[in-house]
Amino acid sequence: MSRLEFPPDFLWGAATAAYQIEGGARTGGKGESVWDRFSHTPGRIAGGDTGDVACDSYHRFPEDIDLLKSMNLSSYRFSIAWTRIQPEGKGPINRHGIDYYRSLMEALLEADIRPLPTLYHWDLPQALEDRGGWPERDTAWRFADYAAITLRALGDLASDWVIFNEPNIFTVLGYVLGIHAPGHHSVEEGLRATHTVNLAQGEAMRAMRAESSGLRIGTAFNMSPCEPAGDREEDEEASERWHRFVNLWFLEPALYGRYPNAFLKGVPEEMMGIQDGDSEIMLAPLDFIGINLYTRTLVEEDLNDEYGIGAKPVGPQDGRGGPLTDFGWEVWPVALRDMVLRITRDYNQPVIEITENGCAYGDRPDAGGQICDSRRIEFHRSFLKALHEAIEEGADVRSYHAWSLLDNFEWAEGYAQRFGLTWVDFRTGDRTLKDSGGWYRQVARENGFET
Ligand code: FCB
Repeated sequence: MSRLEFPPDFLWGAATAAYQIEGGARTGGKGESVWDRFSHTPGRIAGGDTGDVACDSYHRFPEDIDLLKSMNLSSYRFSIAWTRIQPEGKGPINRHGIDYYRSLMEALLEADIRPLPTLYHWDLPQALEDRGGWPERDTAWRFADYAAITLRALGDLASDWVIFNEPNIFTVLGYVLGIHAPGHHSVEEGLRATHTVNLAQGEAMRAMRAESSGLRIGTAFNMSPCEPAGDREEDEEASERWHRFVNLWFLEPALYGRYPNAFLKGVPEEMMGIQDGDSEIMLAPLDFIGINLYTRTLVEEDLNDEYGIGAKPVGPQDGRGGPLTDFGWEVWPVALRDMVLRITRDYNQPVIEITENGCAYGDRPDAGGQICDSRRIEFHRSFLKALHEAIEEGADVRSYHAWSLLDNFEWAEGYAQRFGLTWVDFRTGDRTLKDSGGWYRQVARENGFET
């Protein structure tokens, strides 16, 4: 047996998001978000579920903090609901919303846990969606105002902040594929949305720094190493283009003020609404790169794809992949090492935080009330092993956040997919630590584990 030891100040954490856990959809002056609207639209969410109550963390957050403490965790990544701070997405500030997040963050500090707030985890105020949403350029400046207000109100309680969660996912799934809120089907809207988000990232960062000094600011990018599905050279090139669109589309504008070359015929600037001077606006020198990673992506060339990238992701290839989680995502631990090392190499060894990694398994309480989720333990163990290899090879990784602290509202899947280290009984709201939570407690305490 050998021991894997993580760096001395490594942070062990768990992650959640406002709409997925808070509930209190109409409480404390909260305004309507696109997810409130979408989840109440018949046919959009499996089982007709909504986030109206979810884990009721709006009322039960002290229990959540007790769970974090019981696992010896030192970082909690959560998100702030824009509609609690500004119910209409602009104009008046809602004091109750600020008070709620102040109480949560004060309690975290009291427990010696780093608060790592995310400003935007997909819940755009519906009032802004009604005015055009993310495809509308003005939304970038509304977001920067919200960022400034939030930092003014809460900036004394956290030094480390995440601007966006998975910008590629909410723009593409929300405006192109129609799977997430607001459920539109338009490549043009989707690409315009990506550009507004890049403008917003730069504007928000400057607004945040103007409000509070000494901040460490990052974004949590969805990342997944792209590999050719077959041996053809065309697939190799296609997977590089897909990598630029999925992994770099919001990173390179932040670092360099320009888009990576993901498209066969160049970046569709006109369709995206790019204007003179936008390069400077997009610049957002990140203090750390947040990586959310769940699996790898296999890619084939497809010259007729709807974007003009000439590539498409394909499912796991028969017999050559890893096992699947209950959500159907391939378990491929080396993906985390490969992705972290590629970012380390290509961007001159930046500071990296693993802002999400986890798996959906439906293991339920047994007769004695215990949740024996051994596949989840194996998942985290194998991904952490791969992460440790990347650190050994020189990657500067400062934290790992398991997704998720709690079973919660998994977007279009409703409550059907359970990602938690903690079991939640959605009828009563009761929380029970799963075996994986017990295992993770020990890893955090020992800053590593035996292999
Ligand atoms: C990520 C999201 C997070 C959660 C996990 C399973 O894409 O950031 O909210 O739904 O997937």
